[in-house]
Amino acid sequence: MKTYPDLRLRRLRKSAEIREIFGETSIELRKLVMPVFVDENITSPVEIVNMPGIYRIPVEGAVEKAKEYEKLGIKSILLFGVPKYKDSMGSSSFDPKGVVQRAISSVKEETNIVVWADLCLCEYTDTGHCGLVKDGLIDNDSTLEVYAKIARSYAEAGVDGVAPSGMMDGQVSRIRKELDSSGYQDTLILAYSSKFASSLYSPFREAVNSAPAFGDRKTYQMNYRNRREAIREIEEDIEEGADIVMVKPALFYLDIIREARNRFDIPVAAYSVSAEYSMIKTAADQGIIDLRPVVEESLAAIFRAGADLVISYFTEYYASIRQ
Ligand code: PBG
Ligand code: ZN
Repeated sequence: MKTYPDLRLRRLRKSAEIREIFGETSIELRKLVMPVFVDENITSPVEIVNMPGIYRIPVEGAVEKAKEYEKLGIKSILLFGVPKYKDSMGSSSFDPKGVVQRAISSVKEETNIVVWADLCLCEYTDTGHCGLVKDGLIDNDSTLEVYAKIARSYAEAGVDGVAPSGMMDGQVSRIRKELDSSGYQDTLILAYSSKFASSLYSPFREAVNSAPAFGDRKTYQMNYRNRREAIREIEEDIEEGADIVMVKPALFYLDIIREARNRFDIPVAAYSVSAEYSMIKTAADQGIIDLRPVVEESLAAIFRAGADLVISYFTEYYASIRQ
């Protein structure tokens, strides 16, 4: 066995040029997705208090934003909606003239950007839950019927892919069936397959006003202590017809991303969620860490874990610094 002093691993790190050549992982902008919040209740952008630098924008501003992103080299966005009305059915979620539907059609008409749309009920229900509530419980099967309607309305608006995030059982197959039977065989499903009941979503819930009015999301989102169950969730979504599976959050769940990558030959997405952004951004704003190297290290870590696609609120920032 050749070892020190014949073997010197530091040779491969001896200059910036050599390190660049032998870097095993790259952050690729084409694989980053920028989340976009469209809000029906505003006429100019509003900064999200707990996510400095991230804004809710009016529906009419979506095209301009998308064009800006396209110029920066960003390939895709993930839309979230803040509607005018909430009710027990979440009926504004499947309104053909709803906030997300209008954003989808305007962006698809005027740009080549790939549009994903988050498909859930929590922004649209007065309970703030991701499913319909019956007798104080989240009712799985009636929720699927509403998800099917949302999927169809997004497809009609021209979305490239729908991203069901409610963690109801059977959501992927119900949505696939709806899309196929209404002529949208080519609409993709980016499934939030292994989405954990995480405390890292709170800035997002503030942003879109979607915190549950009672209880929590633990009867549908996953227990963060469970790795084997995460794999079962992914397996189930693949069988139900997901085109891409997702692990969410990202940075605390790199082991799950790696395991999914090793086990399945399907694109694996990772969602670096709102508090992952806020923690890094606010620490940087306070001078505790340097923004750029920490963003680069954290994105590289998610790609190194095996992600094929990374949803990150730093996408715009990353695109702007690499120009
Ligand atoms: C909707 C949804 C949530 C996120 C993505 N889709 C919130 C939640 O589940 O409470 C979280 C995104 C983030 O924190 O950045 N179900
Ligand atoms: Zn939800």
